[in-house]
Amino acid sequence: MKEKIIQRVEDALAQLRAQGTLPEQPQPAVQLDRTRDKSHGDFATNIALLLAKPAGMKPRELAEAIVAALPADSTISKTEIAGPGFINFFQAGDALTASLSAALADEHLGVARAARAQTVVVDYSSPNLAKEMHVGHLRSTIIGDAVARTLEFLGHKVVRQNHVGDWGTQFGMLLAYLEEQQDQAELSAELSDLENFYRAAKQRFDEDAEFAERARALVVQLQSGDSHCLKLWHDFNQVSLRHCFEVYERLGVSLQPEDVRGESAYNPDLPHIVSALADAGLLQESNGARCVFLDEFKNKEGEPLPVIVQKADGGYLYATSDLAALRYRARELGADRILYFVDQRQALHFQQVFQVARLAGFVQPDTELAHMGFGTMNGPDGRPFKTRTGGTVKLVDLLTEAEDRALALVQEKNQELDSEELFNIGRVVGISAVKYADLSKHRSSDYIFNFDQMLSFDGNTAPYLLYAYTRVASIFRRAEIDPAALAADAPLTLEAEQETALATLLLQFGETLHQVADKGVPHVLCAYLYNLAGAFSSFYEHCPILTAEQPLRDSRLQLAWLTARTLKQGLALLGIQTLERM
Ligand code: ARG
Repeated sequence: MKEKIIQRVEDALAQLRAQGTLPEQPQPAVQLDRTRDKSHGDFATNIALLLAKPAGMKPRELAEAIVAALPADSTISKTEIAGPGFINFFQAGDALTASLSAALADEHLGVARAARAQTVVVDYSSPNLAKEMHVGHLRSTIIGDAVARTLEFLGHKVVRQNHVGDWGTQFGMLLAYLEEQQDQAELSAELSDLENFYRAAKQRFDEDAEFAERARALVVQLQSGDSHCLKLWHDFNQVSLRHCFEVYERLGVSLQPEDVRGESAYNPDLPHIVSALADAGLLQESNGARCVFLDEFKNKEGEPLPVIVQKADGGYLYATSDLAALRYRARELGADRILYFVDQRQALHFQQVFQVARLAGFVQPDTELAHMGFGTMNGPDGRPFKTRTGGTVKLVDLLTEAEDRALALVQEKNQELDSEELFNIGRVVGISAVKYADLSKHRSSDYIFNFDQMLSFDGNTAPYLLYAYTRVASIFRRAEIDPAALAADAPLTLEAEQETALATLLLQFGETLHQVADKGVPHVLCAYLYNLAGAFSSFYEHCPILTAEQPLRDSRLQLAWLTARTLKQGLALLGIQTLERM
């Protein structure tokens, strides 16, 4: 504390020298003394008295200039100029306790709402419906959900958009295969595993020319709105979406059926998108395909890279639906910001689509468009995660394994809980571990999926944090103290260094959340919660709570209570459920 204030005074003096207010010459070191009378602050310096003469100023005048040049510091609540020109510093202790009391009395934990509430469209999860969700969709789903929840908590209006891939040539193959299946029982059995269904359809497509022909014809029929095809397609998508929602439910993801607006929803807009691009003078033809060429995008040979919006055969592309989606989101949904939680490998696609949308005026110049890309989830060998036989890992299987492993661990630790409760604890720990492992890494880096690590009770993991929360909660339960009955106006005291450290951290919850919302980086919240749990541990070790004299006892209970609430709220924003005991 003291050293920090000295450093800041030195910084202020350096600034005054740079401005020419103080002469460039050797100067006495800044002396900072603890005051005896706390009504004069906690520390005082006489530096203005020492430097006034060489500066040719009155000491009080110089003191004022120094105070004005002091870098901002949240650990100082107030400065005052006293007597002939002393500068007094008031430590933020009282500021700290005042903010803590405010946070304790506030449902929102003292977190300030965004100064300007925005409409934020968050595009996340967005799996392709032709196949079952696999581990590749995990990151988008989990990270996007955490950021959406955080934005909402900060007062923004969030519109979730699940831009599922429900349109495209692969549907011809699936429909042809669907049509072939006469036996309803067999069909529903096959559909219960979309991976197998897709594989079987693909095999038919590759091996039987007639089947392939039929599949291609079905795509054309589907696209021209044939009702029989549309019905088959619709039924298939319903089955596939049901699989997705089972996964969302198990994961505790907040996406709802009404958030689904897939590629097919933009199908009717696509011809208008192309004509709007033509009207804006952006369209060029290249080998029959209609493209937009942008100067900023060139290949390695320096040749311009086209954004193709319509193929020579009249078919539209992924980029065309994304342009339509951008226009819809800006115009119909009134988005101020549109965030895409999509694999980093689609970075170029988004840069191009954003640029085209801006040039075409599909979005306002001040609409913020951001691709929140993420890296790959790799297996232990550092290569993209695969099953032992080299297949894609289905998300449901991964979650089941996590739950089973977690259950085994908690069973070992808890002999006394009944099996139903243990089962629930295993479920929460397993799912949280998978989610937290993903959330706690910076999204843009690749990471290695490792069950042992994510289920460890040490380190920056879900089990550690869940356990930390139960520890705080159990203080109240074991002593039978109702936190709500703690006098909200009881004086808070921060005597020990561990108390101040914990208090300071508790008050950084808000700035942490704003960072998560601005940059789409939940790992910052994870790191914060991990530090908070650590700060609580040291506090708990050094500062007896229940055996302390009043009013210290209540003060410490309040700190513990705010810690519990902050941990619980923080984890909830990450989409992680807390347990009262484990
Ligand atoms: N369905 C795409 C995929 O699985 C992701 C879609 C992301 N969102 C978007 N608007 N392009 O790769």
